Amino acid sequence: MSDKPLAGIKIIDFTHVQAGPACTQMLAWFGADVIKVERPGSGDVTRGQLRDMPDADALYFTMLNSNKRGLTLDTKQAAGKEVLERLIKESDVMVENFGPGALDRMGFTWEHIQSLNPGMILASVKGFSDGHHYEDLKVYENVAQCAGGAASTTGYWKGENSGPTISSAALGDSNTGMHLAIGILTAYIGKQKTGKGQKVAVSMQDAVLNLCRVKMRDQLRLDKVGYLEEYPQYPHEMEAFADGVVPRGANAGGGGQPGWILKCKGWETDPNAYIYFTVQGHAWGPICDALGKPEWKDDPAYNTPRGRQPHIMDIFATIEDFIKDKTKFEAVDIFRKFDIPCAPVQSMKELLHDKSLIASGTIVEVPHKVRGSYTTLGSPIKYSGFKPEITASPILGEHTDAVLAELGYNAADIAAMHASKAV
Ligand SMILES: CC(C)(COP(=O)(O)OP(=O)(O)OC[C@H]1O[C@@H](n2cnc3c(N)ncnc32)[C@H](O)[C@@H]1OP(=O)(O)O)[C@@H](O)C(=O)NCCC(=O)NCCS
Repeated sequence: MSDKPLAGIKIIDFTHVQAGPACTQMLAWFGADVIKVERPGSGDVTRGQLRDMPDADALYFTMLNSNKRGLTLDTKQAAGKEVLERLIKESDVMVENFGPGALDRMGFTWEHIQSLNPGMILASVKGFSDGHHYEDLKVYENVAQCAGGAASTTGYWKGENSGPTISSAALGDSNTGMHLAIGILTAYIGKQKTGKGQKVAVSMQDAVLNLCRVKMRDQLRLDKVGYLEEYPQYPHEMEAFADGVVPRGANAGGGGQPGWILKCKGWETDPNAYIYFTVQGHAWGPICDALGKPEWKDDPAYNTPRGRQPHIMDIFATIEDFIKDKTKFEAVDIFRKFDIPCAPVQSMKELLHDKSLIASGTIVEVPHKVRGSYTTLGSPIKYSGFKPEITASPILGEHTDAVLAELGYNAADIAAMHASKAV
């Protein structure tokens, strides 16, 4: 028996693009037998999107589908439906993120799935929740970031590019997948007690909004107080609060600790020569020491958050002046000695070659049949009892025959299914 915690759990991975695959990939890392079901001939659309090598699965696919097995199945053909039914009878979980109603149109309603396997956990991602006035909409990442409130609260509140802004972090896709993974494991634990499966659904809008909790907090505060004291608009641009809507706060700290992105040596030519600096209240003394400003320690215009806020941007300008001849790494090396929460702005290139991330298994190189190997992101969750080992994403239909044989089909059945393109 494998030491991986989810070994023995069988998951039908009827997902595509990012939100669903990110969820099932994580469960596969932790030991579940994840069988990715794809349309014969084409497969997940991401296999061919943004290719960096001709005729090889794109990184879009390989980075979201590691550790899985691959089964091709045309679930609109009778033979394909029959295979899926057998698979449902033998599996613990089915995950899907098709457009609204697609699974029902295929004939796999929740009632039908339950009749095949009352213990089945059916996990779905949709753009909006069931019964929502937008439930019929198809949704991609950026659509969800807009629908879930992230875009309205991200970016600058003034200037040429001050409109709603999308984050490059996959708040709509992978984040929803992570929520779904929690939902699946919760339902699985529930099933140990009741013996029954259940339907688990996460909407991308809800998952984005769940991460925008502090912005909803701010809306509730704004409704009561009329302004937001920690926002960069306070107190010099109070008109930003006049419409009673949470304004975009650019790079301000989202909690009670003001912060900002500060320029370091070389920012004129290096787009990432910056650090994030946080003015943590109780670290004020160390900050003054780090900056060589001991006189700020007892000055009422500086020694309380309220005293500092009216001129917080001037304080950041002073810190910027202090680090203008230091690289972002040198600046952090100074501030870390004073226990100040800060970090360099890291580029993708820097992260890709980061020794610590490679050592921890967050950045990994995976052997692959067609690509030779590919670099991917490993598990962000680390365990003391086992180390998630990342293996290659499957070639389209790589495990079709093996999975069909496990389901009891003989060689002639399998050949017939290939001939009719059901697999
Ligand atoms: C992502 C999304 C917009 C893509 O839309 P799309 O490319 O039009 O694909 P759909 O999911 O609607 O599926 C298209 C069809 O393929 C069919 N299909 C998928 N796999 C199949 C298979 N193995 N065999 C036969 N048919 C298959 C579906 O049944 C569906 O058919 P129908 O609409 O004719 O009934 C849509 O799937 C969606 O909104 N998903 C939910 C939200 C989500 O997860 N979005 C984020 C993705 S990262």
